Amino acid sequence: INLEGKPFQMPIIVGTEDEKALDITSLRAQTGYITLDPGYKNTGATQSAITFLDGEKGILRYRGYPIEQLAEKSNFIEVAYLLIYGSLPTSEQLNDFSDRIRRHTLVNEDMRKILDGFPSTAHPMGILSALVSSLTAFYPESLKSNQTEDEMNLSIVRLMAKMPTIAAWSYKNSIGHPVNYPKNKLDYASNFLNMMFSYPTEDYEIDPVVVDALNKLLILHADHEQNCSTSTVRLVGSAHASLYSSVSAGISALWGPLHGGANQAVIEMLEAIKADGGDSKKFIEKAKDKNDPFRLMGFGHRVYKNFDPRARIIKKSADDVLNALGIKDPVLNIAKELEEAALNDSYFVERKLYPNVDFYSGIIYRALGIPTNMFTVMFALGRLPGWIAQWKEMRENKEPIGRPRQIYVGETERDYVPL
Ligand code: MLT
Repeated sequence: INLEGKPFQMPIIVGTEDEKALDITSLRAQTGYITLDPGYKNTGATQSAITFLDGEKGILRYRGYPIEQLAEKSNFIEVAYLLIYGSLPTSEQLNDFSDRIRRHTLVNEDMRKILDGFPSTAHPMGILSALVSSLTAFYPESLKSNQTEDEMNLSIVRLMAKMPTIAAWSYKNSIGHPVNYPKNKLDYASNFLNMMFSYPTEDYEIDPVVVDALNKLLILHADHEQNCSTSTVRLVGSAHASLYSSVSAGISALWGPLHGGANQAVIEMLEAIKADGGDSKKFIEKAKDKNDPFRLMGFGHRVYKNFDPRARIIKKSADDVLNALGIKDPVLNIAKELEEAALNDSYFVERKLYPNVDFYSGIIYRALGIPTNMFTVMFALGRLPGWIAQWKEMRENKEPIGRPRQIYVGETERDYVPL
């Protein structure tokens, strides 16, 4: 905005050399406009080498690799390594990383006592955030502001390893059932599924289709540059808070319904349409009617003015998973009809309202047996390597403590008059 509070489009200047070349002071003097200030890092002005996103063209790449290729060909641990360490692992590096994660999947038994203190009504996200933060109590060296590379890597591996255990325990708590311990002969995704769905009375049968779908979902959610939770992780970490407390803050940010709650809202909307008779066209008309409170959830995205590339992959995966598992979920058809109707309707086309990642993900989660109150936890599990990578990048770049820029719009100076 300019100094009169009117909107103004400033060119965004990225890169130190460009910033130097530009005489910001003279530009400010000439225009009176507020300019990008590289001193205010970790907000809109963060530079990052992790995830490239072009919302106009619908492109998403992790460290240069297109999301489509990663979702198709790799697994979650490989992508986590890529995001955190910057390049794809050799098979030796991948084995080593996976083995180290395996060794740390158990959480301290005292954590069980903390878990036991939560009522079964506690939301799994509240438990996840609290228990991740409480890892600092068990690993106080994580609080060191000047961790060595090895210490930092150990914190990273511990968090990657323990998060599925904590996540599955948060679910078991919500249904009042005993927790399962990790089984280290299983791979990352299978181990999580086993902790979620095994019972003392019945073993969970791990289906490769489910494992594959889960890997894909986790990969698609692994990073998305400076969204609400990721900037939170960077900002909290910029005060040299530990990795665990920074990620715990990110989990709280993601818990907000506008961020991580979107796929739950989509499922609820699809169920409501089904209950109403399943007429998708009727709801497309309602969505266009400004006076109607109905909103089409899972359409449009703050940065995508084109198809969300994650949505394309998820839609196909939803089809594949439901077919492979022989599940007929009528809400998948309603979702497809809504998408079809919207993409052929000038109202949506002109506004560039395309389905986003949340539009289909809830349908797959349900097919995998994951209940709605765990949808955000699944998002957090997927986003973990992205949060770690962003935290690590910010620390390694020795970025200053974040301080978002404020433009004061309140009262000018007033005199206090006693009553
Ligand atoms: C995400 O993946 O974090 C969401 O799409 C939100 C965003 O990136 O703005």
